[in-house]
Amino acid sequence: MNFRLLTDEEKITINSTLAPNVVFQDNKFWYVKKTPDVKRPFLGYILGKSFCNIAETKLLSDEEMMELKTLFSFNIDASKDNTLLVRLASSHKLEELPCQTIEKAVATELIYSTWIRRRDTHALNREYNPQGIPVFYDFHIAFLAELKWIHSTLFFKDSPDYGHPPSWKVKEVSEGVTTERVRDVTTQSSLAWHYVRSIKQFVKELSDAEESVKQLASTDIHSLIISASFDLPEADRIEDFLRKNLITLHSDIEEMKKIIFK
Ligand SMILES: Nc1ncnc2c1ncn2[C@@H]1O[C@H](COP(=O)(O)OP(=O)(O)OP(=O)(O)O)[C@@H](O)[C@H]1O
Ligand SMILES: [Mg+2]
Repeated sequence: MNFRLLTDEEKITINSTLAPNVVFQDNKFWYVKKTPDVKRPFLGYILGKSFCNIAETKLLSDEEMMELKTLFSFNIDASKDNTLLVRLASSHKLEELPCQTIEKAVATELIYSTWIRRRDTHALNREYNPQGIPVFYDFHIAFLAELKWIHSTLFFKDSPDYGHPPSWKVKEVSEGVTTERVRDVTTQSSLAWHYVRSIKQFVKELSDAEESVKQLASTDIHSLIISASFDLPEADRIEDFLRKNLITLHSDIEEMKKIIFK
């Protein structure tokens, strides 16, 4: 068998609400994610994984999908187009991550999210590993998914709820940060907060993260978009969108700085 469900001992080591949706394969724990479309979550991972702490994400083969359907008694509509595997964020080891400090991890997440217009960078879309380093997921809303917020002017202004950039904050804390603590908040808007130990270091990391996006954009991103299974017209639109966002990236970051330190 390729996959197996978790043992009782394993279940108590992970978040109990997640356990029924987790499988074990290749020595890793995977969240079985149902989504309207696997293309955006997969692109979010393959495009940003070289410089951001993004939870490892895998598309399923036909055989794997069949196996999962049996294991979870999925209904007939489950398919490899609407189901994929996202590795449990907290289970990533420090040495596997491109960002091994909390400042670098937060800076790269916010700059990458600005570039691709992923607005919901909140605490429910990230977990901290045992060393307190954040690893994030959830790219359903990015890459032209919501046309209303394509332009940075609205992206940074319009705020119906905590899943939008005007709620983003970066706070300096001395204590160890954990998944439970950042979710245990009294107001919903504080779910949008990010935590670092040094704001000064974080600001330095913002410049490096901007450079990483520019370097990445100088590579063949069109092939990457195609490899996430977008058809040619859609891949062209997404590439064009990313290139346009690059032109305003620097001023967008300045706009973001006005918000996150308020
Ligand atoms: N890789 C992961 N590691 C840890 N928890 C996860 C992971 N993926 C999903 N989760 C948990 O499942 C919840 C829902 O998953 P996710 O955020 O990806 O989708 P969503 O919020 O339902 O959004 P959408 O379906 O619109 O993309 C998360 O808030 C989180 O608690
Ligand atoms: Mg989510």
